[in-house]
Amino acid sequence: MEHKLWGGRFSAPTAAEMSLYNDSFRFDVRLAACDISGSIAWASALAEAGLITSDEQEQLVQGLELVRREFADGRFEAKPSDEDIHTAVERRLGELVGEVALKLHTGRSRNDQVATDMRLFAIGAARLIDERLMGLQVALLDQAERHTATVMPGYTHLQRAQPITFGHWCLAFVEMIERDRQRIADATARARTLPLGAGALAGNSLGVERERLTELLDEFDAVAGNSLDAVSDRDFVAELLFSFALTGIHLSRLAEDLVLYSSAEFGFVELADAYSTGSSLMPQKKNPDSMELLRGKSGRLIGNLVGLLTTLKGLPTTYNKDLQEDKEPFFDSLDTLDLGLRVAAAVVQTMEANPERMRAALDDAMLATDLADELVRLGVPFREAHAKAGRLVRRSIELGKPLRDLPLSEYQTVQANFDERVYAIFDFSRSVSRKESLGGTAPQRVAEQCARWRDLLTN
Ligand code: ARG
Repeated sequence: MEHKLWGGRFSAPTAAEMSLYNDSFRFDVRLAACDISGSIAWASALAEAGLITSDEQEQLVQGLELVRREFADGRFEAKPSDEDIHTAVERRLGELVGEVALKLHTGRSRNDQVATDMRLFAIGAARLIDERLMGLQVALLDQAERHTATVMPGYTHLQRAQPITFGHWCLAFVEMIERDRQRIADATARARTLPLGAGALAGNSLGVERERLTELLDEFDAVAGNSLDAVSDRDFVAELLFSFALTGIHLSRLAEDLVLYSSAEFGFVELADAYSTGSSLMPQKKNPDSMELLRGKSGRLIGNLVGLLTTLKGLPTTYNKDLQEDKEPFFDSLDTLDLGLRVAAAVVQTMEANPERMRAALDDAMLATDLADELVRLGVPFREAHAKAGRLVRRSIELGKPLRDLPLSEYQTVQANFDERVYAIFDFSRSVSRKESLGGTAPQRVAEQCARWRDLLTN
């Protein structure tokens, strides 16, 4: 019979479509380096337990390093019998080092092996995504530093609300991404628990030291305390998929703002040609496809999370083959986010803000809150101040004039002691510079936040 890890009790070969359905090598090949690192550690543990000689250990390790190089150089030749990455590595190891390869799997199951591989892979993936997230933070920070005092309309309900600074807008996303990074780090901490040595489900009876394995594999800091749980715990995959999905949602919101802001109606930013595309029919079009895809791909990230949660729900205790379904969604989310973050950082880095268009979109009504604040300073209770300012806004609409063009007599009808000084509020820069509460949009505050982030992101 062909090379299989489990052929002994079978008398008939696997059906062709069953192999197609069952085999995972075409995607779990991505675990090759992790699988080999896990096996090298396992070989050491076997030697330390006296289950193989140090000479055999040496042969195994050298052989595994050769296989690792074949994968790294793209020279690995897969065989149709390579059911999954574990089978493939062991098969090739046997071809390279002979008989001794038959000892590598002593006391181990693919169940604890694949759980270990996935954790190693996930830890590496989290590191990569963290770097990408930081790249986007830096791009946003670069823009924020350029625009600490660039005034633009801030919106709630997508209606003009109050003036803000563009730098403040940029830093809002730096904050969101920081939480994404923390969430990923937190999920990764729980991925650092080692399942290896749990065997198929019950533990191993050959005296392999599991604690020792955590010293051999730097990524791990503890051993899983229950072998039944160890082989089937995919919480770390679900947690990372959730963190990736929420990151995707933040990116989608960034993208949505930039789609709007780059439209002719807003014109607040212009995206670089390199990250826009044209229309096959309308020669004038320049479309923000990069940002639309960033927005759209959040759907895949959410879908991959929901798919895995659905797979996990209702599984009986310990390993079940359903768990093989953890890989494709994880790889897909990783690749989707990796590229998405690279594109997002480049788009932000290369976009041009247009402070004139931002300023042109401001209108006096956005200072109605400042007007109410002015009344508060004159001793009017806020509820009343709100109503009085509202009446002035209504007057400005009725008269078809901006607030600053209403005569003082109009102001005095709502508040008798208003004098000329009220007109000082009609200055958008003054308005933002007064929002100097911590975390507010005042240029001074934004500059301080920029300095804080620069320090955090460059140290
Ligand atoms: N390819 C399998 C997976 O990804 C490896 C573990 C197989 N274990 C087993 N008992 N068949 O989950």
